Amino acid sequence: MALGVPQRYLDLTDLATARGVEASKYQQGLGCFQMAIAGPDEDPVTLGVRSARRALASAGVSPDEIGMCVTGTETAVDHAKPVAAFLHGMLGLSPRCRVFEIKHACFGGTAGLLGAIEWIASGAARGRAALVVCTDIARYPLRSAGEPTQGAGAVALLVREKPRLVELEVGRSGSYARDVWDFWRPLHHKDALVDGPLSVQCYLDALSGAYRAFRVVDEEEDGEPLARTCYHVPYGKMARKAHRTRRGIDGLSEAEADATFRAEVEPSLGFSAQVGNVYTASLYMALASLLHSEAGGLEGRRVGLFSYGSGCAAEFFAGRVSAGAGAFARSLDLGAPLADRRRLTMDEYEALRQADPLADRRLASEEVRTNVAPAAGPRYLGIDAQERRVYRDV
Ligand code: CAA
Repeated sequence: MALGVPQRYLDLTDLATARGVEASKYQQGLGCFQMAIAGPDEDPVTLGVRSARRALASAGVSPDEIGMCVTGTETAVDHAKPVAAFLHGMLGLSPRCRVFEIKHACFGGTAGLLGAIEWIASGAARGRAALVVCTDIARYPLRSAGEPTQGAGAVALLVREKPRLVELEVGRSGSYARDVWDFWRPLHHKDALVDGPLSVQCYLDALSGAYRAFRVVDEEEDGEPLARTCYHVPYGKMARKAHRTRRGIDGLSEAEADATFRAEVEPSLGFSAQVGNVYTASLYMALASLLHSEAGGLEGRRVGLFSYGSGCAAEFFAGRVSAGAGAFARSLDLGAPLADRRRLTMDEYEALRQADPLADRRLASEEVRTNVAPAAGPRYLGIDAQERRVYRDV
């Protein structure tokens, strides 16, 4: 696996000062510390390509070995052409590859991943690997309650028959779905609309439903206890609420559940504290953070995974950390893309956000003004005369 993150971030102490809110509200109240902000030349395609190139290179996998390329996103750049098609071209994947995108809010990447493991387990993959790329830009209106819970980034997952990090359990999961209006992104909006308190309740209801369904299957199969659990992390505090709910279903009191949080969940929250919400990629950023901090100690042990997509769909599933994952995770250096980022001022942040609605109509021939030297990789330049998106590698 590998991350792709924007080159810029906003520190939430700066946002708190500007909004006249105590920093402790964001940091302790929500569990948010920094949020990644996409620049004018970054979009779900460039972030996705960055993560996928890194995943392929660090695993030593050639583009020809990929038989399925799936993107999960709720930040589509076109109503018809999927982000996966851009990736197919920019990564140089084989024409003999199944390429598509899945949308179901933050659940889209998980739907792709579960499809990929079932494709491999069925034998249809015939030894080939799947590339699942979760990529999103989380945006809420300026000065809204959701503003401190924004973020942007991608996680690429290479799925193969003999995994070197985590072996996911096939057909052993609990699903939950319900038609609700907790969070939505109308076609004419860049920013998400959300009923915040309802979204929190829907998440917890979905977790209860999916986890109870998982427990039934797991007990039938005599499942071992979960050493750690990674949750979808729209903001850090939500993982704490989720863990309390889940361990409550296991029979723990609130105090007992909270006492297990530090060991069972906290190591998975390091990356999201620096990046913020990344919608489809959020659960996998949590898994990456967990493996980055303690893969070696978890070899052979089970990790629970909870994915939630508003609207809503959820799944609770699990995987076992592979033998040798500690050394492999160290070689991947999963946190490296976070090292070289620039802290934005509030003025720069607001100027970037105000330019967002124009980005899809900007002409590629116009110069993209940015005071951050572009990182190696693809840049989004704008559109051409036929309104096709134009990218260039630097
Ligand atoms: N110091 C410490 N804590 C403080 C504080 C202070 N000075 N001031 C307030 N707090 C605490 C509050 O007590 C509260 O804690 P609890 O949740 O434990 O009760 C917490 O800070 C949040 O404060 P509010 O209840 O006032 O809530 P808010 O107005 O800040 O809104 C939110 C919170 C609804 C999550 C909002 O940020 C939002 O709408 N976010 C976007 C939606 C979202 O992320 N929903 C999550 C579930 S949906 C999902 O998961 C899909 C997805 O990715 C979007």
